[in-house]
Amino acid sequence: MTAHRSRTTRSGRLPALFTGVLVGVSAVGCSPSPADTVPTPPASARLADVGTAGAEGIGDTDFPKDGNGGYDVKHYSLRLDYDPERVHLTGEATIRALALQNLSRFNLDLSGFDVRKVTVDNVEASFDRAGTELIVTPKSLLKNSAEFTVKVDYKGRPQPVRNSSNLGTYGFIPTKDGAFVTCQPNGAKTWFPGNDHPSDKATFDFTISVPRGLTALANGEMEGAPRTEGNKTVFTWRERHPMATYLATMTLGKFETLTGKTKSGIPNIAAVDPAYRDDLQRLHRVNGQITDYWTTVFGPYPFSSTGAVVDDFDAGYALENQTKPMYGGFSPDEGIVAHELAHQWFGNSVSIARWKDLWLNEGFATYSEWLWSEHRGKGTAQELFDSAYKAQDEKSPIWSYPPGKARAKDLFNTSVYVRGAMTLHALRKKVGDRTFFDLLKTWAHDHRYGSVSTEQFIELAERMSSLQLDDLFGEWLYGTRKPKPLTR
Ligand code: ARG
Ligand code: ZN
Repeated sequence: MTAHRSRTTRSGRLPALFTGVLVGVSAVGCSPSPADTVPTPPASARLADVGTAGAEGIGDTDFPKDGNGGYDVKHYSLRLDYDPERVHLTGEATIRALALQNLSRFNLDLSGFDVRKVTVDNVEASFDRAGTELIVTPKSLLKNSAEFTVKVDYKGRPQPVRNSSNLGTYGFIPTKDGAFVTCQPNGAKTWFPGNDHPSDKATFDFTISVPRGLTALANGEMEGAPRTEGNKTVFTWRERHPMATYLATMTLGKFETLTGKTKSGIPNIAAVDPAYRDDLQRLHRVNGQITDYWTTVFGPYPFSSTGAVVDDFDAGYALENQTKPMYGGFSPDEGIVAHELAHQWFGNSVSIARWKDLWLNEGFATYSEWLWSEHRGKGTAQELFDSAYKAQDEKSPIWSYPPGKARAKDLFNTSVYVRGAMTLHALRKKVGDRTFFDLLKTWAHDHRYGSVSTEQFIELAERMSSLQLDDLFGEWLYGTRKPKPLTR
């Protein structure tokens, strides 16, 4: 799916590694060697005939190699087999994409694994590896605007990302009975090849086989009942709404599941590791209540089911995996369930096109915790704002880290969450409840399944309130000093 920002212009800037436009495309009949005896066609004609290499990154300056240029993925079809005993994953990824330029070659992101074979439109393609880039050279040029299908066969031992800064461990994390799979920001490449950046969303289907007795949980809903084939069980899941790669999951292990519907009729799927058996009923109920409540505040639920997964792997965090938030090694309280479910609107349906804008996800989800507290008759959003404001004195690092510019090395800084939420509260006080809650719904509606930037949010807030909000956002999102107390 195409992101809001045009990628065709960005892929025009080819990184150094890819400046050799003609390398490897001699088959097209235009020799890369300086064959001075043959008249060289004009450069423009040459480019049209042979195409250029897709960029090795999608253009997120803070994560220069994440994602790739030159194409837009429409659909991922993943066939996966996992053997927990051998810690071995066998994968067959079929990716349908649209060329955004004449492509002589393009990259996929994939970390580790032994790649056995790559085909493009059913014709074997040559490929190379460079770090986490899988470089694919199709036999023939892919024309701008043409759809193509790339298939990658791979296998090996999945290796999660172990990040030394505050990202922790993420990606495909083998556990004692299966795997815990949470990929924010760029860990999808640890289990399937793709365009691993949230600005390229796509639909997914998963066919996952695991040893009999284990459960495979992925996004969306199951297609039919699990099938047993010999000593394996095969689960088929489908996510029919566009999804960022970091929200995809294939969580595996022993699980007890509870399926039903929320009061308003949304399918609701909860699954817990047997260690959390006693929490299953409560989690399922609370998850349904909160999902329903958010539909009254943010507008219609964007996906076809809601859910929650608790594994006994101690990740130290939760992640808003699309339709199935994942809780790593703890039974979540209402606050965190409210947070992860708010992400289904803010982050998952309305996605950021660059990581710098992460407050649009985390500030909104944290503010939603305050809204839930208020709804439950506990602390009001005002009280929670006041206590956060008071708790952080002038010297607190929250004030020197502007949440409107999330940093690659410290993406999940408290400022992005708490000061992001405070920004929304400051906005609410300034524009009034009516406009503020209208704004949340309009934002979720206008950008449903799309990609956004902070600039667009500010523009919408100014339009809907008819106020000049530069000072407010300047101070709260971009300033490096503690803002003055809100006037009421
Ligand atoms: N987005 C998650 C949340 O706010 C946090 C993810 C943390 N990810 C990580 N790799 N540490 O719930
Ligand atoms: Zn969050």
